[in-house]
Amino acid sequence: TRTLKVALLGAGNVGSQVARILLEDADSLAARTGARLELAGIAVRNIDAPRDVELPRELFTTDASALVRGADVVIELMGGLEPARALILEAIEHGATVVTGNKALLAVDGPSLYEKADAAGVQLSYEAAVAGAIPILRPIRDSLAGDKITRVMGIVNGTTNFILDQMDTTGAPFADALAQATRLGYAEADPTADIEGHDAAAKGAILASLSFHTRFALEDVHCQGITSVTAADVAAAKDAGFVIKLLAIAEKLPVPAPSGKDDGGHSSGVSVRVHPTLLPREHPLAAVHGAFNAVFIEAESAGQLMFYGQGAGGTPTASAVLGDVVSAARRLVLGGPGRTETTTGVLPVLGIEAVTTQY
Ligand code: HSE
Repeated sequence: TRTLKVALLGAGNVGSQVARILLEDADSLAARTGARLELAGIAVRNIDAPRDVELPRELFTTDASALVRGADVVIELMGGLEPARALILEAIEHGATVVTGNKALLAVDGPSLYEKADAAGVQLSYEAAVAGAIPILRPIRDSLAGDKITRVMGIVNGTTNFILDQMDTTGAPFADALAQATRLGYAEADPTADIEGHDAAAKGAILASLSFHTRFALEDVHCQGITSVTAADVAAAKDAGFVIKLLAIAEKLPVPAPSGKDDGGHSSGVSVRVHPTLLPREHPLAAVHGAFNAVFIEAESAGQLMFYGQGAGGTPTASAVLGDVVSAARRLVLGGPGRTETTTGVLPVLGIEAVTTQY
């Protein structure tokens, strides 16, 4: 059996669960991929930082760059723009397959990273970047590839869904609901990116790009958060038969606006936006409670689809990361000896021709 060297960058909530699963499930992962996924090392800033999962100390290193240079598969779970961007570029340069969950980086720099990966013939995948455990990017990219998506609406931020749900069910004011989200560990110490809608906008840009085959960046997304939603707004909505949800929406406009305007993506014929939305209480997304996520898709032939699950958390998000890793490993096994021969092109998979160009 072939061995693929896996470099893990970051050992936070998600990274440490990914490491645990790679170690604990090594045999079954090997059986499923046809290759042993050898965790070659875990790059962290501080080797002695406290972690939820106990991992072999000898795996840790502070030299991320050296780890990347020796890897077939690089999993980037550090978050933030730098050094994540530089390390992903280094991985691409070395022909390593890249798996990342870094929605902030992809929303800002995705288009240039995808181009560089395409040009180098390496795979860059990022299922974990949107809606945690929910398999949503591959269904949009692959399963719906023969259809025309007309609208995507997502509850893609668990913190704000929890806050709005609390306000709706208990009548609590925004500040109290936010405090509870923080107490329960949903909101970050600095919840700005959640409550101002920036996190949802980053995910909206990724969903819109895949759904409408156009590269949208964060700056193309009109964004309004939930900080000005009051208990009175929530109560009035409830009285009228609605619930307020923070949605990321990408939809085809009936008539494309004239090009060249900074208009929330309108010049592409698609509107991409994040804002508090009044949803009829009978809408399937209205039933998404607590910190759960869901993505509702309308497509010309498929009609309505909904995907629901945990949008955050170490183990759920690790599930999406591992899915990308296994799928990358299978491709490497079919395609030749890994990083020296990773190419785009056509591979025979079960007698079907599968083009390896990646999202
Ligand atoms: N802060 C995010 C959320 C975490 O609340 O959904 C997952 O990206």
